[in-house]
Amino acid sequence: MSEAYVHGYHPRENERLQDQAGTLVELLHSDTSYPPGSVVLEAGCGVGAQTVTLAQRSPRARFTSVDVSADSVAEAKRRADAAGLTNVQFQQADIFALPFAAESFDHVFVCFVLEHLSRPVEALAILNGLLRPGGTMTVIEGDYGSTYFHPDSSAAHKAIQCLVELQRLAGGNALIGRQLYPLMVEAGLEAVHVSPRMVYVDSSRPDLVDGVTRKTFTAMIEGVRESAIEAGITDPEAFDAGIRDLHRTTAADGVFCYTFFKGVGEKRRRA
Ligand SMILES: C[S@@+](CC[C@H](N)C(=O)[O-])C[C@H]1O[C@@H](n2cnc3c(N)ncnc32)[C@H](O)[C@@H]1O
Repeated sequence: MSEAYVHGYHPRENERLQDQAGTLVELLHSDTSYPPGSVVLEAGCGVGAQTVTLAQRSPRARFTSVDVSADSVAEAKRRADAAGLTNVQFQQADIFALPFAAESFDHVFVCFVLEHLSRPVEALAILNGLLRPGGTMTVIEGDYGSTYFHPDSSAAHKAIQCLVELQRLAGGNALIGRQLYPLMVEAGLEAVHVSPRMVYVDSSRPDLVDGVTRKTFTAMIEGVRESAIEAGITDPEAFDAGIRDLHRTTAADGVFCYTFFKGVGEKRRRA
């Protein structure tokens, strides 16, 4: 693996990614579908949380989904098979050493991957090189700095900051969502358009309280507890107080907000 990966590969992380995908499908995917016959590369597919949605929404497009982790690719394949998908092929591959010919894809899709990379522009430029002229690149990223909630809590913000700091120490950037536009432009994409996708959660939507606030966001922060303590950026009491306050936002009077960023750009057409 060429890049450190803060969130790990254990089953709880896989379950979290599945919960996240289920709850956020409409918010993130409603405007993504690929025409029949088109050839799509999904880079960094992980355990296939987005793959199943992508392939189901574009049943006559053909997907190649790759990830640097062979275990994740195997799990993604199992999930795709279980969903009865026949339009996806999986391959273990590193974005920085992809075994594909230039301009061999009509579209590229990348979700929650750039935040883990120390060279995100280089990754996007490599993927851009695989697009045919006029093809599209879709990139989705979160941004931990976009989190706010009620009741507000400095302990909770500090716990979130632990993840941001660990990601930084690992060479990544947990605040990358806000940078999608400049990154995509720098990588050479044209007609780039970024749309913020805010998820707003209050107790009138128990599915979101559970799927987003509890099982996705808070679980993600809780997942870095040991590493953050080990790295000396927090202590158990301070961290646990932050997690308690994040859970507090799931109460009847609690509110939680987070923004994803979705960018779509185009490969330069020949003159
Ligand atoms: C947070 S997961 C996202 C997975 C999936 N896209 C999703 O939205 O559920 C990030 C994935 O990027 C993969 N990844 C990180 N660096 C990579 C690289 N250099 N090449 C390919 N995949 C990479 C990791 O193995 C991991 O599966």
